[in-house]
Amino acid sequence: MSQGADAGNSDFVVVANRLPIDMERLPDGSTTFKRSPGGLVTALEPLLRRRRGAWIGWPGIPDAGEEPIEQDDMVLYPVNLSAHEVAEYYEGFSNATLWPLYHDVIVKPIYHRKWWDAYVEVNRRFAEAAAKAAAQNATVWVQDYQLQLVPKMLRSLRPDLTIGFFLHIPFPPVELFMQMPWRTQIVEGLLGADLVGFHLAGGAQNFLILARRLAGANTSRGSVGVRARFGEAELEDRIVRVGAFPISIDSTSLDKQARSKAIRRRARELRAELGNPRKILLGVDRLDYTKGIDVRLRAFSELLAENRVNREDTVLVQLATPSRERVESYIEMREDIERQVGHINGEYGEVGHPIVHYVHRPVPREELIAFFVVADVMLVTPLRDGMNLVAKEYVACRSDLGGALVLSEFTGAAAELRQAYLVNPHHLEGVKDAIEAALKQTPEEGRRRMRALRRQVLAHDVDRWARSFLDALAATKTTAPQRSDEAKSGSKSG
Ligand code: ADP
Ligand code: F6P
Repeated sequence: MSQGADAGNSDFVVVANRLPIDMERLPDGSTTFKRSPGGLVTALEPLLRRRRGAWIGWPGIPDAGEEPIEQDDMVLYPVNLSAHEVAEYYEGFSNATLWPLYHDVIVKPIYHRKWWDAYVEVNRRFAEAAAKAAAQNATVWVQDYQLQLVPKMLRSLRPDLTIGFFLHIPFPPVELFMQMPWRTQIVEGLLGADLVGFHLAGGAQNFLILARRLAGANTSRGSVGVRARFGEAELEDRIVRVGAFPISIDSTSLDKQARSKAIRRRARELRAELGNPRKILLGVDRLDYTKGIDVRLRAFSELLAENRVNREDTVLVQLATPSRERVESYIEMREDIERQVGHINGEYGEVGHPIVHYVHRPVPREELIAFFVVADVMLVTPLRDGMNLVAKEYVACRSDLGGALVLSEFTGAAAELRQAYLVNPHHLEGVKDAIEAALKQTPEEGRRRMRALRRQVLAHDVDRWARSFLDALAATKTTAPQRSDEAKSGSKSG
């Protein structure tokens, strides 16, 4: 404990942009809470409950105050953001600068100095909140692209802490990252952690190159493995480990829920409500331009036009959670998707029988599981995605070995789910062929693929992800700050 910060009493602290629940203000002035969107919450919430830790995050609306929220098995510390900070830190720098830059510049990143200033200020606030909540020698696990400066800020406030950082989105190629005007500050911010984790080894490798180039670290040369063979960035006074830890889901619990009688019944009802089609295709996403919702709609539309899909007995259900609704690129994308849905229904639907069923609101968890159980073909077609938990959720729900997964090669999940119908979302004819093949697969072929996919998803669950990261983080304290033998023998590049 040092530099004047008082220790709190939590031994394990998660710091993420969002709390697992969003606050909502009702018209009568009272407040209520609902589950917040995104894969990060899906992955971390069960873990934190089990560890009875503290979670520091924004409750989803401006000026919500900072009153701690006690839950049975964890305590939530809200970080207050003004409306101005939501606009500049969250909608601006996080989601109109970093998000597109880290997702292959699918839309053009916007670089505004004022947004950067807000990002620095809000990161400082999160670091101070973490420093206040964490007990002496606690472990603090910082999450995702919104908080990349927190590790360094937190280390200077509380050098006694063990600090991990995990990036939930892709880490970009070096050439793209170099666009960022504040690239050195970001790399140095991340190097404040003891362990920096990515979904894929490629991201870890890119980060090591940048740590060498921008922060002058002496870095390891060997290739980084998955949950093994960590890279190292050696700074003047300590060594930072860098690794690949593909995130996952609570597969066992999802598998169990999907087998329940109630869910099975609901799945049958859903098919009946959709008019008992022979084939149901399903998309489940945040409404985000990275998810390639437009790609699957275009492919489906062309398959209908070419009579390769039977319009009499096929429907596509697209569930789309609203996301970042005030960011310009999201407003434009929503208009485009809704135009496409209208076009397909206008061309191929009948009164009372639309071909595309589009829902622009979050669906309750049980209902979502019933959709996974009933879907014959799951469409996951992002142009770029760090992992994509939806693909894994679908597989976990198919204990019947039914269904087929069409999966973009540009998702982190594709590295593990090799028996999916893998597609390049930029190659429309390839996407169409894969959808057609998935619709027409024989039951034997479907079972063969799904059995292999399930083996992977059930064996590599979110617990294993968290354990592998936290074990590697704890190990940094038993081996650091000694330089490794490999470093001393000069097998690193300067
Ligand atoms: P991201 O983190 O980019 O949103 P992921 O696929 O990794 O993408 O995680 C999304 C999470 O949100 C999953 O747990 C998924 O089930 C959930 N989700 C996505 N769309 C919906 C929806 N329309 N209704 C309810 N939950 C959704
Ligand atoms: O997993 C990616 C992620 O961007 C999380 O960081 C984020 O919390 C979630 O998806 C949803 O986005 P948002 O918090 O902007 O609604």
